Amino acid sequence: MLSAETEPRIAEAFSKHGQSQVLRHIDALPSRGRAEFLAQLAEVDLALIARLVAAGGEAKMDYSRIAPAPYVALGASNADARAHGESLLRAGKVAAFTVAGGQGTRLGWRGPKGTYPATVVTGKPLFRVFAEQIAAAEKRYGCAIPWYIMTSPLNDADTRAFFKDNNWFGRNPADTFLFPQGTMPSITFDGKLMLETPGSLAVNPDGHGGAIRALHHSGALEDMQARGIAHMSYFQVDNPLVKIVDPVFLGLHAQSAHSSGEMSSKMVAKRDAAEKVGVFCDVGGGKTGVVEYSDMPAELTGSVDAKGALRFNAGSIAIHAIALAFMERLTAGGEGTGFALPFHRAKKKVPYWCDAQMKTVEPAEPNAIKFEAFVFDALALTAKSLVMETARVEEFAPIKNASGDDSPASSHQIQSNRNGAWLEKFGVRVPRRANGDVDARIEILAETALEAEDLAEAELPKQIAAGAEVVI
Ligand code: UD1
Repeated sequence: MLSAETEPRIAEAFSKHGQSQVLRHIDALPSRGRAEFLAQLAEVDLALIARLVAAGGEAKMDYSRIAPAPYVALGASNADARAHGESLLRAGKVAAFTVAGGQGTRLGWRGPKGTYPATVVTGKPLFRVFAEQIAAAEKRYGCAIPWYIMTSPLNDADTRAFFKDNNWFGRNPADTFLFPQGTMPSITFDGKLMLETPGSLAVNPDGHGGAIRALHHSGALEDMQARGIAHMSYFQVDNPLVKIVDPVFLGLHAQSAHSSGEMSSKMVAKRDAAEKVGVFCDVGGGKTGVVEYSDMPAELTGSVDAKGALRFNAGSIAIHAIALAFMERLTAGGEGTGFALPFHRAKKKVPYWCDAQMKTVEPAEPNAIKFEAFVFDALALTAKSLVMETARVEEFAPIKNASGDDSPASSHQIQSNRNGAWLEKFGVRVPRRANGDVDARIEILAETALEAEDLAEAELPKQIAAGAEVVI
């Protein structure tokens, strides 16, 4: 609770920054609402907002300097990397880290995205898919893999309730650490903060780049330090095929000559030029970065080499290995430093409080600028960053849209395709359609297999009938 003296100070600061319009209804608020509003206002970094308004736009990237990023190609021999990654796991040095603070607006699911039923036969929610994978890896490597999950103030309570209702998916509750990310206020096109209600600002989660501040602010980094964690396996909540514990990737990240061991990434070859994924690029001076699909100039997105292959083909699947030491370095300056990541801006339709109508209005057209930081901008802050190629069918089946690409239907097909291919390696006859897709719904449990080779010990059918539903 803020003390009585704080209120005039907050009012003065907002007034000094030309933002006192947000206080216009404060005297009409009930005392509790007033206190909550003041607490929200006290969190706003007015100097940062002023800098962002003054900058007027994002720093423009010099696209003449960018080149495709080098990467470790699929099929490279990685026996040493695997052994190293496995030793890190056995020594309990690896944590899992999910970013789940997004609003999931495109999917239209009411509730945190991690509660969405994702698997192809049993419809397990995403959080359960991850929990079971982590539990199976803990068993295999004889270690605890603490799981850090970044929520947002908008979905934190619902996410916690879901974990509790599901008895933490059978894992030790002390090994799951939920924490909310911060928010950023939206501004009008002329740089003014906006009210969503008479007693609250219009804010949005500050992007997955907010993870750096939130890991620090929540005590998650300290918790990792106390547990002896050295690296975290970072992934988005939307991908049920993510290989959370990948010893080869962890080993390459931590020990390869191509990496400073600070932050590494996985890529898949882009499906086609139009696919909506960020692309790993050399952004100049040997630094790796991701250029978002929405920012990349069309002539680069579509540019091909002499053989007609896409030049910028390293699609980001938003999977990273991140060293704790790197996060500690970035947050060493403490709060107020902005933690070094730039804010990206997007014109959005932001609901706002309309005095004339005495209600919150959903605008029909974009009316405001939202600010978000992107975690992959941290790549440019590493000394040397490695990108590893992986097979799309093995690790990338995101659920983002209600239909079409990256939807539940497309994810289900990819899940069955992956699982069918795993079974075929062991001689199981799997029905396929003319386009190569598996013509059955096949789910493989994490406790049965974390990777194809684990099926060597499983009891498998000789064949699967067309259209069948199978859980192995
Ligand atoms: C993202 C990547 C894109 C990548 C693709 C792969 C960005 C900007 N782009 O696209 O480069 O190729 O995934 O699937 O990230 N999140 C938070 N807090 C936030 C915002 C998002 O935790 O404030 C989380 C979401 O819960 C989700 C993830 O970040 O897990 C991705 O967010 P989203 O904005 O949906 O990115 P995409 O456009 O899907």
